[in-house]
Amino acid sequence: DKGLAVFTSGGDSQGMNAAVRACVRMAIYLGCKAYFIREGYQGMVDGGEYIQEANWASVSSIIHRGGTIIGSARCKDFRERAGRLKAANNLIQRGITNLVVIGGDGSLTGANLFRQEWSSLLEELLKDGTITEEQRKKFDVLHIVGLVGSIDNDFCGTDMTIGTDSALHRIIEAIDAISSTAYSHQRTFIMEVMGRHCGYLAISAAIATEADYLFIPEEPVPLNWQELICQKLTQERSAGQRLNIVIVAEGAMDREGNPITAEHVKKVIDDRLKHDARITVLGHVQRGGNPSAFDRILACRMGAEATLALMEATEESVPVVISLDGNQAVRVPLMECVERTQAVAKAMAERRWADAVKLRGRS
Ligand code: F6P
Repeated sequence: DKGLAVFTSGGDSQGMNAAVRACVRMAIYLGCKAYFIREGYQGMVDGGEYIQEANWASVSSIIHRGGTIIGSARCKDFRERAGRLKAANNLIQRGITNLVVIGGDGSLTGANLFRQEWSSLLEELLKDGTITEEQRKKFDVLHIVGLVGSIDNDFCGTDMTIGTDSALHRIIEAIDAISSTAYSHQRTFIMEVMGRHCGYLAISAAIATEADYLFIPEEPVPLNWQELICQKLTQERSAGQRLNIVIVAEGAMDREGNPITAEHVKKVIDDRLKHDARITVLGHVQRGGNPSAFDRILACRMGAEATLALMEATEESVPVVISLDGNQAVRVPLMECVERTQAVAKAMAERRWADAVKLRGRS
């Protein structure tokens, strides 16, 4: 009689469908009712057809598809107590007291607050006669488990987030393609890659494509970066290289906290080196397309573990997030990871790079 619902929230990432599939199938295998909540928290608030029972077949043929077939949305209503009351009632009416939230740190924090508020929401629903005393007793605990779906790999506590590997493949493919045309015309390309405040995608792509220069948020950019980049590109050209690749992470900034953009870098190269320099902003291409084998398998393992964690949860259990540690899918306390992730963001905003790198640890 344990109802479990899965939803995706925040920005999509490749592999989310594989995670949804694994959660649903493991739930059915263990004998509980599985539900999709479409359009993230908005669907939970709106209820009706947005919360739909899933069966074995409804998650067939989705493992290879990018994005999220159950949709994702940002939701203002869920930030208000009135919205959360509606959401709680929609879950109770279907007997759902287990949630798998697939998203970033903001979505996971939202789920944790909802869980903490659950009893008081039920009290209020009971008082106004929306639910019965029997329902309040039967569904008095909400269990949640988080899975981190994000191309940014910006979550502390896991080695990899779902989607990062696919995005990296997409970036590398694009840089390889750019390199061949850059070679023909002896051009310099400045590639802007995503990652929000995290340089993981940029630094990994730089290593894998032999880029000549890199800007990431975690590295304090030297005050004389203009001289340094020109020296490096000149040195590579003098050694016989016909092209240069510069990678700029979207969150890169200088020591004063001003963004370093592809345009800034191009201007320096144009003015000082007179190279034929071009910018390519990869944008949402990085978040699209089919998930890699790694992301499919990672998401399958994490999804199955999430359902198991929910089925084994007791009243005393703390909410967990499923993480990759070495090659193991493990359960780690959700709020510890969220707090560390937020501390990294704060350190970066205050430009305390060393703290941020330490806090980020292995992720
Ligand atoms: O968090 C994933 C991400 O793709 C970031 O890399 C990027 O900064 C952001 O989302 C873009 O968000 P949106 O799709 O809302 O423009």
